[in-house]
Amino acid sequence: MKIIFHATGGNPDHWLHSLNLALPQHDIRVWQEGDTAPADYAIVWKPPAAMLAGRSALKAIFNLGAGVDAILQLGDALPAGVPVIRLDDAGMGIQMAEYVSHALLRYFRRFDSYEQQRQAQHWRFLKPFDKQDFPVGILGLGVLGQRIAHAIAHFDFPIHGWSRTPKNIEGVSCYAGQQGLTAFLQASKVLVCILPLTDDTSGILNRENLQKLPKGAYLINVARGAHVVEEDLLALVQEEHIAGATLDVFQQEPLPAGHPFWSEPRISITPHIAALTLRDESARQIAGKIQALQQGQAISGIVDASRGY
Ligand code: NAP
Ligand code: GLV
Repeated sequence: MKIIFHATGGNPDHWLHSLNLALPQHDIRVWQEGDTAPADYAIVWKPPAAMLAGRSALKAIFNLGAGVDAILQLGDALPAGVPVIRLDDAGMGIQMAEYVSHALLRYFRRFDSYEQQRQAQHWRFLKPFDKQDFPVGILGLGVLGQRIAHAIAHFDFPIHGWSRTPKNIEGVSCYAGQQGLTAFLQASKVLVCILPLTDDTSGILNRENLQKLPKGAYLINVARGAHVVEEDLLALVQEEHIAGATLDVFQQEPLPAGHPFWSEPRISITPHIAALTLRDESARQIAGKIQALQQGQAISGIVDASRGY
């Protein structure tokens, strides 16, 4: 099999090493501008349109991430009828579980306030929060959202979840669709966003929706920056409706110098590291799926472009 590869921002040599280990019998080449030679599969992250345009002979395009917003933006440059396959967990689930557990426990155990007291050399006991007053709402109950729910269930937080289609998940009060959103938000003291970025979810964390959270709520966004209307979030933090936000993703990345989030102490910032794509795990997953496709077997992770994820 011939495989073309491109990963914007990734080191191609490192990737080729992992891919060659997982797919030793295949001919894998880094795609270069002007390369129109035949290929059976493409493995990509944020590929240039020219790489994929017209390549209707591809059997599949593997996206080196869970989120497919960037590749779907190519629109008509994506060859019609060629399936796009996203990564299914591939080691990202446990990282998401760690990140969200850390942020959640930091707020629940009041470490954010103790950090501020430490800076002021201030020794003061703060009344602990009650877990029953700290329900967690997870926007998105897919591969990663369910992994997060599973992890935080161990700490006995009440858990709510919201998805497009109805779900029945043990230990999670499930809400679905637009009709379930208001009740879900009203029930969530800590809101975790792990939605895909689509036409329907872009800007969902706006003033209208964030105001439905109880006063003193917290936001943890590990999905995409464009889910948040940043000026609305900042205003709600300054109005103390939102007590704190932990953000891993931003409308513009890297977050520009001078952005007001940098100087707001109640907003914690990480540089899009909540769950990194792990090369060896991802290469092994893709190799397994190529083998399955070659044998005519069904695989998971096929993207439905019409719904945007
Ligand atoms: P997934 O398995 O496709 O799950 C998506 C979930 O969102 C599903 O439960 C889906 O509902 C729900 N959803 C989608 N559109 C919706 C809508 N309009 N209304 C309500 N619910 C909706 O995706 P995943 O693997 O969990 O990944 C989620 C996202 O995480 C990715 O798209 C990516 O943007 C982000 N991510 C971020 C990082 C990072 O480091 N920050 C790393 C990896 C991924 P149904 O279940 O009903 O379909
Ligand atoms: C990372 O953000 C991903 O979508 O995998």
